[in-house]
Amino acid sequence: MSALSKIAVLGAGNIGGSLAQRLAEADLAREVVLIDIVDGLPQGKALDIQESAPILEFSTRVTGSTSLDALAGADVVVETAGLARKPGMSRSDLLEKNAAIVKAHAQAVRTTAPNAICVVVTNPVDVMTYYFRKVSGLPTTHVFGESGTLDTARFRTFVAEALHVAPRDVTGFVLGTHGDTMVPLLSLTSVAGVPLSRLLPADRLAQLVERTKQGGGEIVNLLKTGSAFYAPSASQAELVRAIAQDEHRLLPASAYVDGEFGERDVYIGVPVVLGRQGVERVVPVDLSAAEQTAFRASVAAVRSDLAILARLPD
Ligand code: 2OP
Repeated sequence: MSALSKIAVLGAGNIGGSLAQRLAEADLAREVVLIDIVDGLPQGKALDIQESAPILEFSTRVTGSTSLDALAGADVVVETAGLARKPGMSRSDLLEKNAAIVKAHAQAVRTTAPNAICVVVTNPVDVMTYYFRKVSGLPTTHVFGESGTLDTARFRTFVAEALHVAPRDVTGFVLGTHGDTMVPLLSLTSVAGVPLSRLLPADRLAQLVERTKQGGGEIVNLLKTGSAFYAPSASQAELVRAIAQDEHRLLPASAYVDGEFGERDVYIGVPVVLGRQGVERVVPVDLSAAEQTAFRASVAAVRSDLAILARLPD
């Protein structure tokens, strides 16, 4: 039985299409609707995914639409729309153009799907999540961003490769912003409970941390025409599953902090508990002095982008 009646995916680009496929195949809702401004794109991708149902044995109905009215009745909305990076660009370079798209979508959610739990993916994600929440007027518990699950998945992959162990046995947390100042928490990373510091020398660990920070850029440089979408959509599907199945998962996500980790009125990657009501709580963890310094720098980078956003014309 599907836990949700409808999941709306805004944006039918590489991430939106891949995410709709993953959500349908996981049978997380009775309907997944792909919404995009480009006529034919959401309808075509939706039909293509739908036609895989007999083989993959899912029951989800997959539809496509160019109208934001299709948000009506959505229990979960995933905002993937917006431009992706090209080589040489930072995520912040997308701010102005993507803010206009996110604004229109958040306004539509406000009127059409005001009870939805919203996952924002559009970059720069911590800033866009803040903006989406503000424009939509939804409670902060109902709006959060996907960042840490992806960054953590990259970190786990690199650690697993370095140690020749199963990726799923590596657990850890990457906090802070989804950008160059992200904060991989080595103290909280382990392989089946064995602390990483006992398995790898410090200089090797430092290399893995650096590769994680540049993980999105590494894919952009390889693809040349756009950014990653397979690992991003897998991360987003993990978050949607936590909501759909009320799993109370403890995962990193870009969440609103109001005093937690010593910060207020900002969206930033922190550990949260996720369930059917969205962000149930932010989970405080003790950071080392160095981690704390890095976390503050990460928040400062988000605040600097928020200041640029505040100066944009309405
Ligand atoms: C990434 O890191 C798309 O920002 C995303 O690949």
